[in-house]
Amino acid sequence: MADKKKITQLAAGDRTIPPDGAKMIPFYLMGSEYLVPETLTIMKAVEYAGYQYIRGCGCRGGICGACATFYRFTGDYRLKAGLACQTVVGPGMIITQLPFFPANRPDYNLDNLDNTRGDLHAELRRLYPEVFKCIGCGTCTRTCPMDIDVMDYIALMKRGDLKGAAYKSFDCVMCGLCASRCPAQISQFTAAMFVRRLVGKYMLPKAGHLEKRIEEVKSGKYEKMLKKLSKMKPEELRKLYIEREREPDLAEPGVWMPEDKECL
Ligand code: SF4
Ligand code: SF4
Ligand code: FES
Repeated sequence: MADKKKITQLAAGDRTIPPDGAKMIPFYLMGSEYLVPETLTIMKAVEYAGYQYIRGCGCRGGICGACATFYRFTGDYRLKAGLACQTVVGPGMIITQLPFFPANRPDYNLDNLDNTRGDLHAELRRLYPEVFKCIGCGTCTRTCPMDIDVMDYIALMKRGDLKGAAYKSFDCVMCGLCASRCPAQISQFTAAMFVRRLVGKYMLPKAGHLEKRIEEVKSGKYEKMLKKLSKMKPEELRKLYIEREREPDLAEPGVWMPEDKECL
Protein backbone atom coordinates (compact mmCIF):
# COMPACT_ATOMS: atom_id res chain seq x y z
CA MET A 1 0.00 0.00 0.00
CA ALA A 2 1.34 3.43 -0.86
CA ASP A 3 1.76 5.96 1.91
CA LYS A 4 1.61 9.71 1.67
CA LYS A 5 5.37 10.12 1.19
CA LYS A 6 5.86 7.45 -1.50
CA ILE A 7 3.02 7.85 -3.96
CA THR A 8 3.23 5.84 -7.17
CA GLN A 9 0.82 6.97 -9.83
CA LEU A 10 -0.73 3.88 -11.38
CA ALA A 11 -3.53 5.21 -13.54
CA ALA A 12 -2.78 5.93 -17.15
CA GLY A 13 -3.59 9.05 -19.16
CA ASP A 14 -4.11 12.46 -17.64
CA ARG A 15 -6.57 11.36 -14.98
CA THR A 16 -4.16 11.73 -12.10
CA ILE A 17 -1.94 14.52 -13.37
CA PRO A 18 -2.74 17.63 -11.34
CA PRO A 19 -2.60 21.09 -12.93
CA ASP A 20 0.54 23.11 -12.15
CA GLY A 21 0.37 24.67 -8.72
CA ALA A 22 -2.63 22.63 -7.55
CA LYS A 23 -2.95 22.79 -3.80
CA MET A 24 -2.30 19.47 -2.04
CA ILE A 25 -4.80 18.50 0.63
CA PRO A 26 -5.01 15.63 3.15
CA PHE A 27 -7.35 12.83 2.15
CA TYR A 28 -8.03 9.67 4.18
CA LEU A 29 -8.56 6.27 2.65
CA MET A 30 -8.80 3.03 4.63
CA GLY A 31 -7.27 4.68 7.66
CA SER A 32 -4.23 6.15 5.88
CA GLU A 33 -3.56 9.76 5.01
CA TYR A 34 -2.57 10.81 1.49
CA LEU A 35 -1.81 14.20 0.06
CA VAL A 36 -3.78 14.71 -3.14
CA PRO A 37 -4.43 17.69 -5.45
CA GLU A 38 -7.60 19.50 -4.45
CA THR A 39 -8.81 19.52 -8.06
CA LEU A 40 -9.41 15.76 -8.29
CA THR A 41 -12.61 13.81 -7.91
CA ILE A 42 -12.63 11.16 -5.21
CA MET A 43 -12.08 8.50 -7.87
CA LYS A 44 -9.03 10.22 -9.29
CA ALA A 45 -7.69 10.94 -5.78
CA VAL A 46 -7.88 7.23 -4.95
CA GLU A 47 -5.90 6.48 -8.11
CA TYR A 48 -3.49 9.30 -7.35
CA ALA A 49 -2.90 7.65 -3.96
CA GLY A 50 -1.69 4.54 -5.79
CA TYR A 51 -4.76 2.32 -5.95
CA GLN A 52 -6.15 0.69 -9.04
CA TYR A 53 -9.89 0.09 -9.36
CA ILE A 54 -11.02 -3.41 -10.13
CA ARG A 55 -14.55 -2.84 -8.72
CA GLY A 56 -16.53 0.21 -7.72
CA CYS A 57 -15.79 2.01 -10.97
CA GLY A 58 -17.55 1.87 -14.31
CA CYS A 59 -18.56 4.74 -16.56
CA ARG A 60 -16.65 7.54 -14.75
CA GLY A 61 -19.48 9.77 -15.88
CA GLY A 62 -22.16 9.59 -13.16
CA ILE A 63 -24.36 7.12 -15.00
CA CYS A 64 -23.58 3.54 -13.95
CA GLY A 65 -23.89 3.95 -10.17
CA ALA A 66 -20.90 1.70 -9.45
CA CYS A 67 -18.96 4.19 -7.32
CA ALA A 68 -21.24 4.95 -4.36
CA THR A 69 -19.15 6.55 -1.62
CA PHE A 70 -19.67 7.71 1.95
CA TYR A 71 -17.50 10.42 3.42
CA ARG A 72 -17.02 12.74 6.34
CA PHE A 73 -14.74 15.68 6.91
CA THR A 74 -12.51 15.70 9.97
CA GLY A 75 -14.18 17.78 12.67
CA ASP A 76 -17.66 17.45 11.11
CA TYR A 77 -20.06 14.83 12.48
CA ARG A 78 -22.24 14.75 9.36
CA LEU A 79 -22.07 11.70 7.10
CA LYS A 80 -22.29 12.56 3.41
CA ALA A 81 -22.72 10.46 0.31
CA GLY A 82 -21.92 10.85 -3.36
CA LEU A 83 -20.58 9.23 -6.50
CA ALA A 84 -16.77 8.98 -6.44
CA CYS A 85 -16.50 9.93 -10.12
CA GLN A 86 -18.55 13.12 -9.61
CA THR A 87 -17.60 14.39 -6.16
CA VAL A 88 -14.53 16.60 -5.79
CA VAL A 89 -12.26 15.92 -2.81
CA GLY A 90 -12.00 18.40 0.04
CA PRO A 91 -9.45 18.91 2.81
CA GLY A 92 -9.75 16.29 5.54
CA MET A 93 -12.14 14.08 3.59
CA ILE A 94 -12.39 10.54 4.98
CA ILE A 95 -13.96 8.13 2.54
CA THR A 96 -15.21 4.61 2.16
CA GLN A 97 -16.63 3.19 -1.03
CA LEU A 98 -19.65 0.97 -1.35
CA PRO A 99 -19.05 -1.04 -4.51
CA PHE A 100 -22.07 -3.26 -3.93
CA PHE A 101 -25.02 -3.08 -1.59
CA PRO A 102 -26.99 -6.24 -0.66
CA ALA A 103 -30.47 -5.12 -1.68
CA ASN A 104 -33.72 -7.10 -1.53
CA ARG A 105 -34.15 -8.60 -5.00
CA PRO A 106 -37.07 -11.06 -4.88
CA ASP A 107 -37.48 -13.54 -7.73
CA TYR A 108 -40.24 -12.71 -10.17
CA ASN A 109 -41.12 -13.35 -13.75
CA LEU A 110 -42.88 -10.42 -15.35
CA ASP A 111 -44.57 -12.74 -17.83
CA ASN A 112 -45.99 -14.86 -15.08
CA LEU A 113 -46.77 -12.85 -11.98
CA ASP A 114 -48.53 -15.17 -9.54
CA ASN A 115 -51.22 -12.94 -8.13
CA THR A 116 -51.55 -10.19 -10.71
CA ARG A 117 -55.15 -10.65 -11.90
CA GLY A 118 -54.92 -7.07 -13.03
CA ASP A 119 -53.91 -5.78 -9.59
CA LEU A 120 -50.33 -4.62 -10.03
CA HIS A 121 -50.30 -2.91 -6.66
CA ALA A 122 -51.00 -6.29 -5.05
CA GLU A 123 -47.82 -7.58 -6.69
CA LEU A 124 -45.84 -4.74 -5.16
CA ARG A 125 -47.35 -5.49 -1.75
CA ARG A 126 -46.51 -9.18 -2.12
CA LEU A 127 -42.92 -8.78 -3.29
CA TYR A 128 -41.91 -5.63 -1.42
CA PRO A 129 -44.06 -5.48 1.77
CA GLU A 130 -41.34 -3.42 3.47
CA VAL A 131 -42.14 -0.45 1.20
CA PHE A 132 -45.26 0.08 3.32
CA LYS A 133 -43.16 0.48 6.47
CA CYS A 134 -41.64 3.78 5.30
CA ILE A 135 -41.66 6.24 8.19
CA GLY A 136 -41.17 9.29 6.00
CA CYS A 137 -37.84 10.32 7.52
CA GLY A 138 -36.44 11.63 4.22
CA THR A 139 -32.94 10.18 4.75
CA CYS A 140 -33.09 8.49 1.34
CA THR A 141 -33.88 11.75 -0.43
CA ARG A 142 -31.06 13.55 1.38
CA THR A 143 -28.63 10.73 0.48
CA CYS A 144 -29.44 10.35 -3.21
CA PRO A 145 -26.59 11.65 -5.42
CA MET A 146 -29.02 12.05 -8.33
CA ASP A 147 -31.22 14.46 -6.38
CA ILE A 148 -34.19 12.15 -6.74
CA ASP A 149 -36.97 12.60 -4.22
CA VAL A 150 -36.77 8.97 -3.15
CA MET A 151 -39.16 9.39 -0.23
CA ASP A 152 -41.74 10.79 -2.62
CA TYR A 153 -41.53 7.92 -5.10
CA ILE A 154 -41.89 5.50 -2.17
CA ALA A 155 -44.99 7.47 -1.09
CA LEU A 156 -46.38 7.20 -4.64
CA MET A 157 -45.81 3.44 -4.56
CA LYS A 158 -47.65 3.20 -1.25
CA ARG A 159 -50.60 5.14 -2.68
CA GLY A 160 -50.74 2.91 -5.76
CA ASP A 161 -49.55 5.55 -8.25
CA LEU A 162 -47.15 3.19 -10.00
CA LYS A 163 -46.81 5.35 -13.09
CA GLY A 164 -45.90 8.36 -10.95
CA ALA A 165 -43.33 6.29 -9.02
CA ALA A 166 -41.85 4.96 -12.27
CA TYR A 167 -41.40 8.44 -13.75
CA LYS A 168 -40.13 9.94 -10.49
CA SER A 169 -37.47 7.23 -10.08
CA PHE A 170 -36.44 7.19 -13.73
CA ASP A 171 -33.03 8.85 -13.20
CA CYS A 172 -31.95 6.27 -10.60
CA VAL A 173 -28.44 4.92 -11.28
CA MET A 174 -28.90 1.97 -8.85
CA CYS A 175 -26.05 3.03 -6.56
CA GLY A 176 -27.84 1.66 -3.47
CA LEU A 177 -26.97 4.61 -1.22
CA CYS A 178 -30.62 5.26 -0.32
CA ALA A 179 -31.15 1.65 0.80
CA SER A 180 -27.97 1.64 2.86
CA ARG A 181 -29.36 4.34 5.15
CA CYS A 182 -33.05 3.45 5.36
CA PRO A 183 -34.23 2.79 8.94
CA ALA A 184 -37.16 0.76 7.56
CA GLN A 185 -34.72 -1.50 5.63
CA ILE A 186 -36.37 -0.75 2.30
CA SER A 187 -34.46 -1.39 -0.93
CA GLN A 188 -35.98 1.62 -2.64
CA PHE A 189 -34.04 1.28 -5.87
CA THR A 190 -34.89 -2.37 -6.57
CA ALA A 191 -38.55 -1.78 -5.67
CA ALA A 192 -38.54 1.17 -8.09
CA MET A 193 -36.97 -0.98 -10.81
CA PHE A 194 -39.78 -3.51 -10.29
CA VAL A 195 -42.38 -0.76 -10.58
CA ARG A 196 -40.79 0.63 -13.77
CA ARG A 197 -40.85 -2.87 -15.24
CA LEU A 198 -44.53 -3.26 -14.31
CA VAL A 199 -45.37 0.09 -15.87
CA GLY A 200 -43.36 -0.69 -19.02
CA LYS A 201 -44.98 -4.08 -19.46
CA TYR A 202 -48.56 -3.51 -18.36
CA MET A 203 -49.37 0.19 -18.48
CA LEU A 204 -47.55 1.89 -21.35
CA PRO A 205 -48.59 1.42 -24.97
CA LYS A 206 -46.58 -1.20 -26.86
CA ALA A 207 -43.82 0.05 -29.14
CA GLY A 208 -44.88 -1.61 -32.40
CA HIS A 209 -41.60 -0.99 -34.21
CA LEU A 210 -39.65 -2.55 -31.33
CA GLU A 211 -41.77 -5.70 -31.38
CA LYS A 212 -41.26 -5.95 -35.12
CA ARG A 213 -37.49 -5.62 -34.71
CA ILE A 214 -37.44 -8.28 -31.95
CA GLU A 215 -39.26 -10.68 -34.24
CA GLU A 216 -36.74 -9.97 -36.98
CA VAL A 217 -33.83 -10.64 -34.61
CA LYS A 218 -35.44 -13.90 -33.45
CA SER A 219 -36.04 -15.02 -37.02
CA GLY A 220 -32.28 -14.75 -37.72
CA LYS A 221 -32.55 -11.86 -40.16
CA TYR A 222 -29.28 -10.34 -38.92
CA GLU A 223 -27.20 -13.51 -38.54
CA LYS A 224 -25.48 -13.11 -41.92
CA MET A 225 -24.56 -9.46 -41.22
CA LEU A 226 -23.29 -10.36 -37.75
CA LYS A 227 -21.06 -13.10 -39.14
CA LYS A 228 -19.71 -10.67 -41.74
CA LEU A 229 -18.90 -8.10 -39.04
CA SER A 230 -17.29 -10.65 -36.70
CA LYS A 231 -14.86 -11.66 -39.47
CA MET A 232 -13.67 -8.08 -40.08
CA LYS A 233 -10.33 -6.79 -38.81
CA PRO A 234 -10.39 -4.02 -36.15
CA GLU A 235 -9.22 -1.37 -38.64
CA GLU A 236 -11.97 -2.37 -41.10
CA LEU A 237 -14.55 -2.12 -38.32
CA ARG A 238 -13.17 1.26 -37.27
CA LYS A 239 -13.42 2.56 -40.86
CA LEU A 240 -16.95 1.23 -41.20
CA TYR A 241 -17.94 2.94 -37.95
CA ILE A 242 -16.36 6.28 -38.85
CA GLU A 243 -17.89 6.33 -42.33
CA ARG A 244 -21.35 5.14 -41.28
CA GLU A 245 -24.37 7.15 -42.38
CA ARG A 246 -25.66 9.21 -39.50
CA GLU A 247 -29.09 10.68 -38.89
CA PRO A 248 -28.88 14.50 -38.86
CA ASP A 249 -29.28 15.96 -35.35
CA LEU A 250 -32.50 17.83 -36.16
CA ALA A 251 -34.15 15.21 -38.37
CA GLU A 252 -37.89 14.74 -37.89
CA PRO A 253 -38.63 11.44 -36.12
CA GLY A 254 -39.24 8.65 -38.63
CA VAL A 255 -38.50 10.79 -41.69
CA TRP A 256 -34.76 10.21 -42.26
CA MET A 257 -33.70 6.93 -43.87
CA PRO A 258 -30.16 5.78 -44.72
CA GLU A 259 -29.26 5.23 -48.36
CA ASP A 260 -27.91 1.80 -47.55
CA LYS A 261 -30.96 -0.15 -46.36
CA GLU A 262 -29.26 -3.55 -46.15
CA CYS A 263 -29.37 -3.59 -42.34
CA LEU A 264 -32.92 -2.35 -41.91
S1 SF4 B 1 -32.64 6.39 -5.77
FE1 SF4 B 1 -31.16 5.31 -4.46
S2 SF4 B 1 -30.11 3.87 -5.81
FE2 SF4 B 1 -31.15 5.40 -7.10
S3 SF4 B 1 -29.61 6.98 -7.50
FE3 SF4 B 1 -30.77 7.65 -5.70
S4 SF4 B 1 -29.63 6.84 -3.94
FE4 SF4 B 1 -28.87 5.76 -5.75
S1 SF4 C 1 -35.11 6.37 4.31
FE1 SF4 C 1 -36.59 4.67 4.30
S2 SF4 C 1 -38.04 5.18 5.93
FE2 SF4 C 1 -36.91 7.07 5.50
S3 SF4 C 1 -38.22 8.13 3.94
FE3 SF4 C 1 -36.70 6.89 2.83
S4 SF4 C 1 -37.78 4.96 2.41
FE4 SF4 C 1 -38.90 6.00 4.05
S1 FES D 1 -18.17 5.28 -12.24
FE1 FES D 1 -20.20 5.19 -13.06
S2 FES D 1 -21.31 6.54 -11.77
FE2 FES D 1 -19.27 6.73 -11.06
